[in-house]
Amino acid sequence: MAASAFQIEGGRTDGKGDSIWDVFSDEGRLADPGDITCDHYNRWREDVTLMADLGVNAYRFSIAWTRVLPEGTGRVNQAGLDFYSKLVDELLANGITPFATLYHWDLPQALQDRGGWPERSTVDAFTEYTAIVGRALGDRVKHWITHNEPWVATVLGHVEGVFAPGMKNWSDGLKAGHHLLLSHGKSVEVLRAASPGSSVGIALDCRPATPASERPEDVAACRYFDGFRNRWFFDPVFGEGYPDDMVKAYRNRGRITSLDFVRPGDLDVIAAQIDFLGINYYTCIEVSAGREESEDTGVPPGPDPPEGYTEMGWAVTPRALTDFLVRVKNEYQPAEILITENGASYSDGPDAAGRVHDQRRIEYLDLHIEAARVAAAQGVPLNGYFVWSLLDNLEWVSGFSQRFGLVYVDHSTGTRTPKDSFYWYRDFVASILRNS
Ligand code: FCB
Repeated sequence: MAASAFQIEGGRTDGKGDSIWDVFSDEGRLADPGDITCDHYNRWREDVTLMADLGVNAYRFSIAWTRVLPEGTGRVNQAGLDFYSKLVDELLANGITPFATLYHWDLPQALQDRGGWPERSTVDAFTEYTAIVGRALGDRVKHWITHNEPWVATVLGHVEGVFAPGMKNWSDGLKAGHHLLLSHGKSVEVLRAASPGSSVGIALDCRPATPASERPEDVAACRYFDGFRNRWFFDPVFGEGYPDDMVKAYRNRGRITSLDFVRPGDLDVIAAQIDFLGINYYTCIEVSAGREESEDTGVPPGPDPPEGYTEMGWAVTPRALTDFLVRVKNEYQPAEILITENGASYSDGPDAAGRVHDQRRIEYLDLHIEAARVAAAQGVPLNGYFVWSLLDNLEWVSGFSQRFGLVYVDHSTGTRTPKDSFYWYRDFVASILRNS
């Protein structure tokens, strides 16, 4: 199971500072406010019990930086650390291994006020925060994810401005992306020191792409899209630096004049040896000339005809997951891969009897688990799979309109109702664990 702090916790209390997403919410930039979301801050025991009933053996959650360091650096808010400490204890008591993500996009607003990720000093702030959390929880948390989906934070947050902090500037975006990656590399060592014997990785999002046709301009557009969306992050994490073709292309398009924010030694830091690569997979895309920076939905996907679309408008494309995993194994040779997110938004709600028949989610999960299995059979070192998500939560700017949960949440009361997919997944997990 996977989740993130801002999307489920609520609880702007007990000394928590504001993050850029709290501010984005206060500014009315989200379809629904983020103040309460799933009230997990108060209902966390109930949520752990749900996961115990589900029978999963691992839970990926994120830590809200502003709960621990309300101003981003300096003063530690013990109540924030205590919240996660109790959660971790409860998980362990239920046989659920905690996987803690340090950054799922919720930068302290105090750091944003000082320039945010485009500023290099934010890297030091992140490592300070990482060390504090690592020391506080590292005796019990042995699996760490530094960052979630740096592409989203970089491009949606700083280039397109549709996500917090809402900046629209290529140069700041690429600086932000570099500092996110640099802070990843630096914190790998910090976490290993603070949490001896732990495994450390990063969760990268991906959009496998195929050209819309064999026309050279579509092939070139697809190559560009792959660089913009995938390689810009995968390559440096695996020691290949930023892709030359993209550096040139960004220059030609006037996105940057130089990469002068990349200082000597940075690329070595970013290439820190990781124990596992997390991959978040939802869909793939077909790219045609002129659309090489577009993720517009409704585009028919490439390698396979879609098995329908989820309510995010994302095509259901399981075979592209297999292909992408095999590609990552061949191109980057990660020691281990975990699918750190996979899931589907369908808005089915309770019927008169209170049951939620979300058959399409069951089919989506079934197809993708099978696709992952096929990849593993082809030698991909796949060692885990996290469903996004346990609860219907706040889907960022889309608010509550998108429901990804195996558990239905009535957002007016907070009541949780397991969906059919919950019972299906429970049986599936039981059969896997029985046979392992
Ligand atoms: C991913 C995010 C996650 C959730 C899913 C649907 O990009 O990491 O928080 O929003 O998409």
